[in-house]
Amino acid sequence: WPMLIAALAGGYLLGSIPFGLIFTKMAGLGDIRAIGSGNIGATNVLRTGRKGLALATVLGDGLKGTVAVLIAASFGPALALAAGLGAFLGHLFPVWLKFRGGKGVATYIGILLGFLPLAVLVFAAFWISVAYLSRYSSLAALIATGAMPAVLWALGRPELALLFLLLTALVWIRHHGNISKLLAGTENRIGAKKS
Ligand code: G3P
Repeated sequence: WPMLIAALAGGYLLGSIPFGLIFTKMAGLGDIRAIGSGNIGATNVLRTGRKGLALATVLGDGLKGTVAVLIAASFGPALALAAGLGAFLGHLFPVWLKFRGGKGVATYIGILLGFLPLAVLVFAAFWISVAYLSRYSSLAALIATGAMPAVLWALGRPELALLFLLLTALVWIRHHGNISKLLAGTENRIGAKKS
């Protein structure tokens, strides 16, 4: 138990680093939470027109999840699951931002990468096809994350299927605003600057 809690807490600390907010501040763009959708994630950073910063954000927010999982995995598989969950919760509910963090998609992918790189390829296939066809980052994320629990189950990793079922539920809850906009036909398309 103490080790599990340490993994959860360590993951949380890593996950709570808001790279989108930090990178856009460092670039002199002000507070990303005042731009576009107000989200701190890469999709919204892209709305500033700075593709490099958006890429840095997806890498930072993703790799913090990968690093948390890989460090914990060297101490045991259960600890890796705890660290992955911790990193995800850290990204969604960072203490530094009064618990108002991101929507979790990049970190979700990074955690998946730490466990099973093959699954990231499947995720990417879903995400890229939906994003290409619809130009909606949110819809691509909803469908790709929606598919992952079953994909992980089919790949013979029930423990990961269970963890990602929880992460998918959290991603969907965090996208409730996007879901309403998608249904209303008012969702922002990828790269569009207006909110
Ligand atoms: O899944 C993409 C999601 O993060 C959308 O972000 O900024 O369009 O709400 P945003």
